[in-house]
Amino acid sequence: MITRGFFNNAFPYRRFHLSPGFIDADRSYNSQYFFTFASQNIYHAILIMQNKVVIITGASSGIGLALAREFAQRGNKLVLAARSADKLQEIEEELKSQGADIITVITDVSVEADCRNMVEKAVEKFGRIDILINNAGLSMRALFKDVDLSVLKQLMDVNFWGTVYCTKYALPYLIQSKGTVAGISSIAGYVGLPGRTGYSASKFAMHGFLEALRVENLKTGLNVLIAAPGFTASNIRKTALTNDGSQQGETPRKEEKMMSASEVAKHVAHAIEKRKSTLILTFVEGKLTVWLKKWMPDTLQKLTYKHMAKESNSSFK
Ligand SMILES: NC(=O)c1ccc[n+]([C@@H]2O[C@H](COP(=O)([O-])OP(=O)(O)OC[C@H]3O[C@@H](n4cnc5c(N)ncnc54)[C@H](OP(=O)(O)O)[C@@H]3O)[C@@H](O)[C@H]2O)c1
Repeated sequence: MITRGFFNNAFPYRRFHLSPGFIDADRSYNSQYFFTFASQNIYHAILIMQNKVVIITGASSGIGLALAREFAQRGNKLVLAARSADKLQEIEEELKSQGADIITVITDVSVEADCRNMVEKAVEKFGRIDILINNAGLSMRALFKDVDLSVLKQLMDVNFWGTVYCTKYALPYLIQSKGTVAGISSIAGYVGLPGRTGYSASKFAMHGFLEALRVENLKTGLNVLIAAPGFTASNIRKTALTNDGSQQGETPRKEEKMMSASEVAKHVAHAIEKRKSTLILTFVEGKLTVWLKKWMPDTLQKLTYKHMAKESNSSFK
């Protein structure tokens, strides 16, 4: 009994798992405990992801749109931001028809005033913010020697500064709710990708910003998640900017072989629910790549070059 008492107090959440190994098998105690334990946890799990106020930037397409559907399905209140008014209206109608409590705010995240306005609208409507997902993003495909510098500036403005602006204005509310700020980064935030200098730079910058923010808030209760999806089927390669800033218009990769945006959204929602700090998706292009970066960086560079050179119309071989 002393053993049980000690372990139960030291590890209250493990009580059910530990007790059979240490004491006589008191079945009625265990089954009663199990049901209390299970129902409390199910109740807790439901509470965790219900009725949260969730801001999602870049919610008009791809991963952001899938995140909107995922969080709506889990019973949360949503603030959806992007530039395309028509697409936002469509998603608003879709989710409202399913009973979701949601507002959309036309926002260009590269404009500080837009981000401040979006956060103000969120607080005006719902009175609080629990989760901010910095997802809005833009990519590129051009070698640095050929690219107009305005392309790199645009990528930094959307991917990095967009994250900074939205986080800045939402932060007081997120700290108050002991919520989560998430950044949808990329494996390009761990590894420099050829033809994506501006994209990699912007995602590395996001990592530095969010990591430092995480450390600053170690004692405030704020959770900071950096999520790095692998290649995901979406619009991002079609809208990627080329040398002169025009959109590429087509994808150089096989989108049908990639992870779907809805699968990515499920992983991200789960990571937020579990208050994780890092999420790396896919094995070869994700976890293995990050491992190689740490332990075999020279080999990874050669593999990355070879892999990216295989893209259709690659400007390097
Ligand atoms: N797809 C992938 O392979 C992949 C892999 C790793 C990481 N990611 C990251 O995932 C995020 C979402 O990308 P996605 O693949 O879902 O691409 P997507 O389908 O092209 O969606 C991009 C979203 O960002 C929004 N956006 C772009 N510029 C914006 C701006 N200035 N202000 C506000 N919103 C803006 C777009 O909406 P509007 O045009 O309506 O503004 C759109 O909703 C990005 O951060 C991307 O870097 C993608």
